Amino acid sequence: MPYSIQIEALRKHYPGAENVALQGLSLNFRKGIIAGLLGPNGAGKTTTISIICGLVHQDSGSARVLGLDCRHDIVAIKSKIGVVPQQIALYPQLSAQENLEYVGRLYRIPSRILKDKIAFMLERFGLDSHSHKRIHQYSGGMKRRTNIIAGLLHEPEILILDEPTAGVDVQSRNMILDFLQHYNEEGKTIIYTSHLLEEAERICHEVAIIDSGRLIAQDTPQQLIANAADCRNLEDVFLHYTGRTVRE
Ligand SMILES: Nc1ncnc2c1ncn2[C@@H]1O[C@H](COP(=O)(O)OP(=O)(O)OP(=O)(O)O)[C@@H](O)[C@H]1O
Ligand SMILES: [Mg+2]
Repeated sequence: MPYSIQIEALRKHYPGAENVALQGLSLNFRKGIIAGLLGPNGAGKTTTISIICGLVHQDSGSARVLGLDCRHDIVAIKSKIGVVPQQIALYPQLSAQENLEYVGRLYRIPSRILKDKIAFMLERFGLDSHSHKRIHQYSGGMKRRTNIIAGLLHEPEILILDEPTAGVDVQSRNMILDFLQHYNEEGKTIIYTSHLLEEAERICHEVAIIDSGRLIAQDTPQQLIANAADCRNLEDVFLHYTGRTVRE
């Protein structure tokens, strides 16, 4: 079966950190799906994404994207993935237009195509009338939406988003989820993290629940709900597997 992501026995302990971030994490995501990487605070979601996109190196184990090794083939991987980080990665003193032009040039998108692409995406995300405002004047939801556009201007085969709907209102969230579903229908793979389990249940074909750097369960939301006793939805399943203790 073709996989987008293959993670095998991944271990990571940040120097000086109290807890081990990943303790032998193994999981695979198929190509062409919307996959949810779920887990409580500190579970290791961002660390996993950082290893996949070459920002952090694991201590041991392997991570592969479309069969390419994340330690050794990162240049080839970078042209195939788009990453939307948990923290807003935009220049606050530049406008959305300027930020996106900058990102597009980094990806060497020809300027004519880039101009049309930015205009299309700003309109798609309801930002066209604000495109020349500086980012620091944007609301949280507008920053999130711009952050997402920055991660996918080059139309990656695999889009990885770390909490793309954190702190946004219902309207923005629906716009983002609607976009992700359309992007997936174009044949792209989406891997995303969220703490909103209702949202993950709605859009994910498959979810992996991780906790303390290990895989706890992975399946379709429907199958996970059916397999765990007395669980009516994904939030029940999540609590069933991860418990009620508040994390870091
Ligand atoms: N740069 C770092 N230095 C030291 N420890 C770190 C660093 N980044 C993460 N950690 C630790 O590694 C573990 C996993 O963190 P990570 O950010 O991957 O979790 P997460 O699942 O993304 O959490 P959240 O839901 O809060 O975003 C945590 O114990 C965290 O404190
Ligand atoms: Mg995180």
